[in-house]
Amino acid sequence: MKETIESSLAEERVFEPSEDFKARANMNDPDIYRKADEDLEGFWGDLAENIDWFEKWDRVLEWNPPHSNWFLNGKVNASYNCLDRHLSAKGDKPAIIWEGEMENTRTYTYNELFYSTCRFANALKELGVQKGDIVTIYLPMIPEAVIAMLACARIGAPHSVVFAGFSHEALAQRIENAGSKFVITCDGYYHKGKLIDQKEKTDMGLEKTEGVEHALVVNHTATPVNFIEGRDVWWHELEKKVDYQCPAEHMDSEDTLFLMYTSGTTGKPKGVVHSTGGYLVGTCITASWVFDLKDDDIYWCTADVGWITGHSYIAYGPLLNGATVLLYEGAPDYPEKGRFWDIIEKHGVTIFYTAPTAIRTFMKWGEHLPLKHDLSSLRLLGSVGEPINPKAWLWYYENIGGKRCPIVDTWWQTETGMIMITPLPGITSMKPGSAVRPFPGIKISILDEEGNAVPEGQGGYLAIEKPWPSMIRTIHGDEERFIKTYWSKWGTDIYMSGDGARIDRDGYVWVLGRLDDVIKVSGHRLGTMEIESSLVSHPAVAEAAVEGKEDEIKGEVIVGYVVLEADVPVSDELKEQLKGHVVDEIGPIARPAAIVFAEDLPKTRSGKIMRRVLRAITNNTDPGDVTTLQNPEVVEELKRKVHLSD
Ligand code: WT7
Repeated sequence: MKETIESSLAEERVFEPSEDFKARANMNDPDIYRKADEDLEGFWGDLAENIDWFEKWDRVLEWNPPHSNWFLNGKVNASYNCLDRHLSAKGDKPAIIWEGEMENTRTYTYNELFYSTCRFANALKELGVQKGDIVTIYLPMIPEAVIAMLACARIGAPHSVVFAGFSHEALAQRIENAGSKFVITCDGYYHKGKLIDQKEKTDMGLEKTEGVEHALVVNHTATPVNFIEGRDVWWHELEKKVDYQCPAEHMDSEDTLFLMYTSGTTGKPKGVVHSTGGYLVGTCITASWVFDLKDDDIYWCTADVGWITGHSYIAYGPLLNGATVLLYEGAPDYPEKGRFWDIIEKHGVTIFYTAPTAIRTFMKWGEHLPLKHDLSSLRLLGSVGEPINPKAWLWYYENIGGKRCPIVDTWWQTETGMIMITPLPGITSMKPGSAVRPFPGIKISILDEEGNAVPEGQGGYLAIEKPWPSMIRTIHGDEERFIKTYWSKWGTDIYMSGDGARIDRDGYVWVLGRLDDVIKVSGHRLGTMEIESSLVSHPAVAEAAVEGKEDEIKGEVIVGYVVLEADVPVSDELKEQLKGHVVDEIGPIARPAAIVFAEDLPKTRSGKIMRRVLRAITNNTDPGDVTTLQNPEVVEELKRKVHLSD
């Protein structure tokens, strides 16, 4: 079990939100946990009242493990719930405040977001998009990304957002897997002052796939682009030709709302399928109870819309609650390292949700940067994506939250759709480094290999024992993998999260990190096998293995062990070339921190790579018994080389 030293040294101090915070919190009834446990369906059924249904559902749940149907026969639309229903009371309220990297801002009120979405939806129809067609969205952090998602939802076309920083290869792979006939992209965008040519990446991706009929192109930076007649269409031109009225499709509660590709333990990313009704119920209530969204809040989540965090807690969750969402295009250190604090001060941000990697980076940059700014508008902080070490938690609490803001450390996954383990700031206290407690109605357990609950305080597999409304429905086109990955370890009714965790004697949950071949680099989820297959696709590489190496800032970094083809000379240039090759294949987030050229990899007598040994070598821990290896001598050699690569 990977257990970081810091998280195992449990921070025992307990922190309480202020009495004032609790008194005003959206949810402050401690009994809610018991109520939810006693009548799970009644609990979720009541919460479904927060959503407007065209036709009410007639049953909360049908559970045929591992298949769940939520809010049966209910008819609903996500875009209607995020927009239309707010117009009478909040039409002029800002829905999205966009802050561009060049310090330009644009605001969309709920009315404006509604009209833009309707137009976009009609433009999609004009291009031939029909209900059920999967539309790939390859856009950076601009309002049009959210508009495009809501437009797809409006006409019943599931969206598949591909992170704008992924390479054209990764884009092509996802378009192909989804069978998308339509792609929404833009000309370019700014990242750290550099213009990224998104259209060119899109074009290269489309060269590698067949079946894409149209690319709808948003003009964001007025960059000259290559246009393919008949295939490519400018959004701003089509917009002028379409009507602004677009009725929201009545979708079945179980119709797919979107696909989100994520990394697993095999080489190929998987398209996690989320449906509509349950997802809306789950994200709406978690956004309200966890972030305590109020009418006058300015809420900022620094994730990218290209990840699940951006879907659930930039777009759907907050908009379902009629909140004002800040959307920031750029990087935390552009044009200077105080940019985030500048944005908080400029817009009066009240709720701030970010990742531990970012917090550790801010720590490194020094507290003089946030201290220069007035952060007194903040009232709640959040953390997500990887375990937060107590030291980073305390720094965040003191220097950003001014010791007055509760911190919600939220554990969840692409597959869970919504926050699953978290403090509720109106009810629970907090221990730095602990995600505290399952959300009401969520039943977790810590199990051993055989599925027995481990004794209190001991680490084990984090499992989920009851269905929840926003749970993954399947893996697109791969039902077998869906069952094998999540529902096979102990039986089809227990969800295997892939994480390790323990629960302390006071009932606080401590998430310890992944137990499988998934690694978290700066909070980004990557499969080691995915990176390995990109390395071996390089002609110089005969064999490759990838491991995560603990890193103080990024959580983990990637180390690639490479056995070269015979007669290929080793060189530093080749190392750089291989790193660049992974970037081309996947994207900059997957760039290995180090490449180690190996004569051989540690293998069992039957020729299987011994991952346990390789992981120990990488992290300088005890590899245990290596005498059963076919080639025990490589252990020392690799240890020496990884150490040198630092
Ligand atoms: C994995 C899921 C949906 C959240 C964003 C990432 C890790 C996530 C925490 C947390 C410890 C966390 C887990 C999980 N993780 N949040 N608060 N504490 N670990 O979604 O890319 O699907 O990754 O992120 O390892 O399995 P994702």
